[in-house]
Amino acid sequence: MARITAGVATSHVPAIGAALDNGKAGDDYWRPVFAGYEASKAWIAAEKPDVIILVYNDHASAFSLELIPTFAIGCAESFAPADEGWGPRPVPTVEGHPALAWHLAEQLIFDEFDMTIVNRMDVDHGLTVPLSLMFGQPDAWPCKVIPLAVNVVQYPPPSGKRCYNLGKAIRRAVDSFPEDLKVVVFGTGGMSHQLQGPRAGLINRDFDNAFLDRLIEDPEAQAAVPHLDYVREAGSEGIELVMWLIMRGALDPKVKVAHRFYHVPASNTAVGHLILENPGCA
Ligand code: DHB
Ligand code: FE
Repeated sequence: MARITAGVATSHVPAIGAALDNGKAGDDYWRPVFAGYEASKAWIAAEKPDVIILVYNDHASAFSLELIPTFAIGCAESFAPADEGWGPRPVPTVEGHPALAWHLAEQLIFDEFDMTIVNRMDVDHGLTVPLSLMFGQPDAWPCKVIPLAVNVVQYPPPSGKRCYNLGKAIRRAVDSFPEDLKVVVFGTGGMSHQLQGPRAGLINRDFDNAFLDRLIEDPEAQAAVPHLDYVREAGSEGIELVMWLIMRGALDPKVKVAHRFYHVPASNTAVGHLILENPGCA
């Protein structure tokens, strides 16, 4: 049977991808960011997942205000890096897992989560930067990736509770897939940041670290936190953090923290990163 062995949460700042692509990872500004992922690269090389379910948000690259799915699942064979204005990132094409993706779509919809099924979609920094942080710069990504896009760009985004419960439904769906697959769920985005308006540049270390603590220890309580608290405390783009609750919902109530990292600054945001293992599932 398929099983979810672990969850990874990470910020997905586009400038991190640009730093890597342009050979600036060793610069004074970027070195501490990439240093925080050295242990993660070793961890995932040992973990060797067959499939990553990668929860992220599209930033008007694949979707636009013409079409705004709350939850979209990529069922295609492959997904090309999106052109975000400076040409597509020079990273490998993302290979999907259509059989598991269709199984997830079916089970989640029967479980009353009305997923949008996507058969053609380019993937932007929200998805490719987390892969670069975890795998570096390989010629091909070492595992299959199922993109799961969440609308956190145009109001109204899904609630934290809805996201947490979607994670639980993903767990049930993966557990019922007959093929023997090791699955890791990624939740991306955050941490505190605001990209526009009078509060542009906002960073809230206290909120971010309390969020990390509660996501680990008391995800039910974190899932009850309303949108307004994220936006007030963590900035308008801090709302991306609700996506981490999908990853957390897919894990056991008690998890083992394999890695935790927090760093300011990276572009306009705080970088947060967690690796959480499912105790009985290594
Ligand atoms: C930045 C961060 C993001 O998460 C994003 O999607 C776009 C920009 C930034 O810090 O610049
Ligand atoms: Fe973002």
